[in-house]
Amino acid sequence: MQQPEEKKKFVRDKFASISGRYDLLNSLLSMRIDRYWRWRTTRLLREFPAGPVLDLCAGTLPLSLELARQAKNRQVLAVDFCEDMLRAGVRALPDDDRRQRIFPVCGDGEEIPAPDNTFWGCTVAFGVRNLARTQQGLNEMYRVLQPTGKLLILEFSRPTNPVVKPVYNFYLNQVLPRIAGLISGDKEAYDYLASSIAEFYEPRELLAMLEKAGFGETRRLPLTFGIVSIYIGVK
Ligand SMILES: C[S@@+](CC[C@H](N)C(=O)[O-])C[C@H]1O[C@@H](n2cnc3c(N)ncnc32)[C@H](O)[C@@H]1O
Repeated sequence: MQQPEEKKKFVRDKFASISGRYDLLNSLLSMRIDRYWRWRTTRLLREFPAGPVLDLCAGTLPLSLELARQAKNRQVLAVDFCEDMLRAGVRALPDDDRRQRIFPVCGDGEEIPAPDNTFWGCTVAFGVRNLARTQQGLNEMYRVLQPTGKLLILEFSRPTNPVVKPVYNFYLNQVLPRIAGLISGDKEAYDYLASSIAEFYEPRELLAMLEKAGFGETRRLPLTFGIVSIYIGVK
């Protein structure tokens, strides 16, 4: 069991090492379904078409871009503690108005660099699983949201369908680390992906943690046989 500071260093180093290939691998390994997952997540914020939104664990900015694409008057603060991931995202930003509305900031999701009651929405795509202190991160997300603001967590979950489950587990544990290792040069990073999914909280545990942080109206929306889920909470 790693200590929080050890886990942070490990996670930051792993993402730094794959930052240049992260987007390519994401599309390849998910067969581009990840784009649909981010689209669905972002649609759940359509009642807040203007004003600031926080994209936490923003990485190479794929969800920040979708957030800015779906609402032309939205500003996105994109926070990640791995500078290399943010830099890779900034280098690949398309040449359109979203450049002026996405603000990348290097910072820790467990100590969000923003004042209380700031954002209408907070999104975290495939980031919560990587936090060293999950409850501390959720408490911070609650703090920086405005009252009635919405939290959306997009995260891997474990499919329970008896046909899908063994196929998915084989893909995740055997196929994915090998392909990803070849392309990224860091197989360990994708072994970590598989083990972090296997070890992550059950959906009901994560929802209980959202409630502990103060969120109401909590619910889970499983997508694609429950391979991923969107967890929702309102401040
Ligand atoms: C799997 S990537 C997800 C990137 C992006 N959200 C996406 O949809 O592809 C996870 C990101 O979480 C970041 N991360 C992990 N722990 C963090 C923390 N405590 N504070 C800020 N960022 C963190 C990593 O640096 C990495 O860029």
